[in-house]
Amino acid sequence: MTNTLLDVRDLRVEFRTRDGVAKAVNGVSYSVDAGETLAVLGESGSGKSVTAQAVMGILDSPPGRVTGGEVLFRGRDLLTMGAEDRRRIRGAKLAMIFQDALSALNPVMTVGAQLGEMYEVHEGMTRKDARARAVGLMDRVRIPAAAQRAGDYPHQFSGGMRQRIMIAMALALEPDLIIADEPTTALDVTVQAQVMDLLAELRNEYDMGLILITHDLGVVADVADRIAVMYAGRIVETAPVRELYAAPAHPYTKGLLESIPRLDRKGRELYAIKGMPPSLTAVPPGCPFNPRCPLARDVCRTDRPPLYDVAPGRGSACHFWKETLGEG
Ligand SMILES: Nc1ncnc2c1ncn2[C@@H]1O[C@H](COP(=O)(O)OP(=O)(O)OP(=O)(O)O)[C@@H](O)[C@H]1O
Ligand code: SF4
Ligand SMILES: [Mg+2]
Repeated sequence: MTNTLLDVRDLRVEFRTRDGVAKAVNGVSYSVDAGETLAVLGESGSGKSVTAQAVMGILDSPPGRVTGGEVLFRGRDLLTMGAEDRRRIRGAKLAMIFQDALSALNPVMTVGAQLGEMYEVHEGMTRKDARARAVGLMDRVRIPAAAQRAGDYPHQFSGGMRQRIMIAMALALEPDLIIADEPTTALDVTVQAQVMDLLAELRNEYDMGLILITHDLGVVADVADRIAVMYAGRIVETAPVRELYAAPAHPYTKGLLESIPRLDRKGRELYAIKGMPPSLTAVPPGCPFNPRCPLARDVCRTDRPPLYDVAPGRGSACHFWKETLGEG
């Protein structure tokens, strides 16, 4: 038996806008096992966050609406189960970490009180016991002098420390799965790496599933097991990280990889993908990437590529994946 925690199948989310219906998530499937990290990569607007919001039940609705698909948590569909069960699972088993810790935390409550409140509300602890647990948790995410700092307010912490507090909040009820949406984007590079390492360590310790949403493969390459690359509301490539890094099977992924500065490519000009992602109310026919793709030809402008099986555990939504892979 596999240990699949979350299995998202053919998920569809639409937004009604002034310009028409935007298909922000257009048939996305991905899964995460216990102890595994899935990175979800893609440019701004590709649907990474909206997918996560639909999973967590925090979609801005209206205007957003889930129009199809399944979100199976341990085999049960969160989208169709009773409200009470759904609330319990989403409250205790799934947790989310956001990019902007300062706006996600309560500014007028000390961090010790905020963390403690989780235990008071969900586990019926006394304030004193809850506070002790909160300090233990702050210690666990390596906030120096946790006992004293529990009395401080969010704005008194540095960005990196605040993000650790967010991680502690997410961890408090020992969830099975954490979705981290660009958790380190606002931090400098050294602190980014420390926060990523902490997340990976906690994932191992608690045998959690982890979804890391990012637009920067460089940040997650070391901690992720598998990766799903999104473009215009779809997954265009999925693969184990190392394999994708060594030989991408989709021209879009190839472009993303080539735009990461690498020491071994010093002196070479960075390849940037030309053009802009399409408007989601007017996605071009055929392959959505065709206006920007250096390999595009006639069939790309008429036939939408399915996610072809490239190898076990690897898929690419490109008619010419063999050619792309071959180029290395
Ligand atoms: N509240 C909303 N109202 C209308 N449209 C929305 C709303 N939220 C998202 N969308 C649409 O969904 C698309 C996908 O948004 P999403 O936030 O998932 O992108 P993302 O991949 O997370 O990008 P980023 O890297 O900028 O966070 C947007 O381009 C937009 O068209
Ligand atoms: S299907 Fe065609 S346009 Fe789309 S990525 Fe492949 S080669 Fe490029
Ligand atoms: Mg986002």
